[in-house]
Amino acid sequence: MNQLRSVKGTHDILPDESNKWQNLESIVNAVCAQYGYHEIRTPIFEETGLFSRSVGEETDIVSKEMYTWEDKDGKSLTLRPELTASVTRSFIQHSLGNQSPIQRLYYMGPLFRRERPQKGRQRQFHQFGVEAFGSEHPEQDAEIIAIAWQILSRCGLANDAKLNLNSIGSKECRIDYRSALKDYILPYLNDFSETSQQRFKTNPLRILDTKSEKEQMILKDAPMITDYHSTDDSAHIESLKGFLNAMDIPFEINHKLVRGLDYYTKTVFEFNSLTLGAQDALLGGGRYDGLVKTLGGKQTPGIGFAAGMERFLIAMDESENEFNRSTPDIYLVCLDEKGLSNSLKISDQLRKNGFKVVTDPLRRSMKSQLRDANKLGVKFALILGETEIKDKTIAFKDFGKGIQKTILQSEVINFFDDLTN
Ligand code: HAM
Repeated sequence: MNQLRSVKGTHDILPDESNKWQNLESIVNAVCAQYGYHEIRTPIFEETGLFSRSVGEETDIVSKEMYTWEDKDGKSLTLRPELTASVTRSFIQHSLGNQSPIQRLYYMGPLFRRERPQKGRQRQFHQFGVEAFGSEHPEQDAEIIAIAWQILSRCGLANDAKLNLNSIGSKECRIDYRSALKDYILPYLNDFSETSQQRFKTNPLRILDTKSEKEQMILKDAPMITDYHSTDDSAHIESLKGFLNAMDIPFEINHKLVRGLDYYTKTVFEFNSLTLGAQDALLGGGRYDGLVKTLGGKQTPGIGFAAGMERFLIAMDESENEFNRSTPDIYLVCLDEKGLSNSLKISDQLRKNGFKVVTDPLRRSMKSQLRDANKLGVKFALILGETEIKDKTIAFKDFGKGIQKTILQSEVINFFDDLTN
């Protein structure tokens, strides 16, 4: 019989990787709490209409990539391909806007898109993200980008990431821009790929996203969205640029950045990794001032971003920073059955005092326990042998400094507190 395997484009997160995930999750939790954001958890599947009405019928996500099925009652359901739509649905359904004029929300969880799998692109992947509902002002945009910057910095990725920023303006300005862009492209249309020709009909702004050098060359002199901005659109992006400068967050204006979801207005941005290769978007987001209304709520502005957690972890691995390892502090070696209860007691006391402690449940020799400690990268060992048990002492070993000494068992906690303070 064929061995069962995980489905193409999905991955198990195995025990030797899970501490990296937990580290990333705790950074996200900590930073979001610092900015006053609260976690929201929504269901993994939703009614299909939620995504077609928000992300957009003509987008790649909705037209090609969703896992959709007809449920037994005939309703069309879809595994969520992104979370902004779900969070907005929940915001409206639970009247969160009535609880306070600003709702600051964040989330983490799995998403599903039937894309061609490759490094950094999966069919089941994970995002963390933030959404702020209620403010139309550019300081809210600045706060959202600052959260992204803060999380990237804590993950050791700020120097490897570039912030691309653009404003696609209000809906009205895009109508004029769209026809100007089409007029410009039309004479060259045959030189464009099939995908771009399709986009010409459905969503011409997305042609600006093209990776083809030939198409980029043609687009070099295309009209720019900035020429179509209203006074309000221009003032908004100018203020945002000022706030980012004030916060020392480096950015580059990229007039070709449009993003592949239909709900955006004004600010759009992406942090791209300089090391990841083809799938280099670490996170992306923008303003969606019309989305709450489109989905049946009261007019409420919003802005947010979402980040690919797998991409963050690959980039963190590649930058070899310290966040990847969860190394225990102390390895407690017990060499005599009679010492076991004391060994368990001491390790538990140490854990209660904040130390990470590993013991050996295999009753191996001193040599193999120390070898295990080395393999784990532990700094300190405590050794309980026959003599120590008799004398109520314990041997301490600092692998790095090569120091060894004997301490009283009753002094162990104080000893480590002094050592690490
Ligand atoms: P998105 O650009 O579609 O935006 O996705 C955000 C991030 O999710 C990407 O930058 C990438 O890191 C990651 N990602 C997307 N697809 C995959 C995949 N197949 N495999 C691995 N990672 C992937 C959104 O989802 C919007 N909801 C962002 C947003 C929030 N806008 C406003 N608020």
